[in-house]
Amino acid sequence: MSASRSVLLIIGGGIAAYKVLEVIRRLKDRGIAARCILTRAGEQFVTPLAVSSLAGERCFTDLFSLTDEADIGHIQLSRSTDLVVVAPATADLIAKMANGHADDLASTALLATDKRVLIAPAMNPRMWQHPATRRNMAQLERDGILVVGPNSGAMAERGENGPGRMAEPPEILAAIELALAGDKPGGQRAIGFLGRLPGGNHAAAGGALAGRHVLITSGPTHEPIDPVRYIANRSSGKQGHAIAAAAAAAGARVTLVSGPVSLPDPAGVETVHVESAREMLAAVEAALPADLAIFAAAVADWRVADAAPEKMKKDGGALRPLSLVENPDILATVAQRTGGRPGFVVGFAAETQNVIDYARAKLARKGCDLIVANDVGGTGVMGGDANTVHLVTPDGVETWPTLPKEEVASRLVAHLARQIAGKAE
Ligand SMILES: Cc1cc2nc3c(=O)[nH]c(=O)nc-3n(C[C@H](O)[C@H](O)[C@H](O)COP(=O)(O)O)c2cc1C
Repeated sequence: MSASRSVLLIIGGGIAAYKVLEVIRRLKDRGIAARCILTRAGEQFVTPLAVSSLAGERCFTDLFSLTDEADIGHIQLSRSTDLVVVAPATADLIAKMANGHADDLASTALLATDKRVLIAPAMNPRMWQHPATRRNMAQLERDGILVVGPNSGAMAERGENGPGRMAEPPEILAAIELALAGDKPGGQRAIGFLGRLPGGNHAAAGGALAGRHVLITSGPTHEPIDPVRYIANRSSGKQGHAIAAAAAAAGARVTLVSGPVSLPDPAGVETVHVESAREMLAAVEAALPADLAIFAAAVADWRVADAAPEKMKKDGGALRPLSLVENPDILATVAQRTGGRPGFVVGFAAETQNVIDYARAKLARKGCDLIVANDVGGTGVMGGDANTVHLVTPDGVETWPTLPKEEVASRLVAHLARQIAGKAE
């Protein structure tokens, strides 16, 4: 395997095995090599030929194969990788892992590995909720196994609904990135735990940000005109809140400074509620120091110079003109601090034209380390559920495909965890 990162992918005997073919393809796109083990039951759902063709090398199926043992033994197979991934993780494989069985190649490799293990459970809701599976999952949690999914929804079996659907390939890929980012240089393991990613799904977290304080702003600000009226913008806070949840899932202590939004506070995150830009700056400064600061809020550039203390009346006359003054620039204020600047500062740029050019200029002007630029011109991004972002740094621009905001969040967190780990080296 020539790629710099690699996973050993164990494919169990569930109907969701076909989705794992997509995971193998996407791993290759990301430069992550996949070596595959297919269980005997797994072979009923996808063929070794399909798996080998996509992985670019033969897949392994048999514990007692003389040729395989001479070629690469089962112990080496389980260790010559950065991460072991089980998808679909059947009830049977989960039971074997929880009880230390080693009666086929998959379970033997899982018992013999010295690498972190991420599982993507997939099964009928009754099987998932059965006390035996609950016990086995609790054991895996104690063992530090990482988990992505399952999701809730309609099952392949007609009329069945509930938790047990395997996480979708993008969710599994994001979890793999998080788990790989959690490995410290030199092959030492970061703390593994069962966490939750945004979207209400059980999810994996590699502890990639364990021990870090991450400060995030989110949502719009409201700038008062009088006690009942204000100037606002269309930001929903969905992207910033998703990043806060993803950072918490990656093990960070997270402070979220949120403008007025109609979203619940993310679980496991300390959320500070503010209204105006000036309140937001004060809350941000109070939350420092931080290892990483991500300014995703859409802060109003201007406020009304002399907001009326009482409700303004029509009284048959014209409204007096509103005079506006500039708000403090939260991103520049924090990025340009001489003492107590966060180790890594990320700004967001919402633009309706010349997105990348404006973002480059903003990066230089504000003094931050990275700008996440997005085109909000008539695409429903503000308030919508998907986002197309460009990561702009002094070194260049990386453009991501249009993704659900939760996936943008988990990818961004994995990306930033790698940046921070790189800086620390
Ligand atoms: C059509 C069909 C679909 C199945 N889907 C699942 C599934 O999604 N999850 C699961 O835990 N078991 C499922 N099973 C049962 C497993 O295939 C069976 O428990 C098998 O022994 C698992 O082997 P493995 O864990 O070694 O892959 C299914 C069986 C059949 C016949």
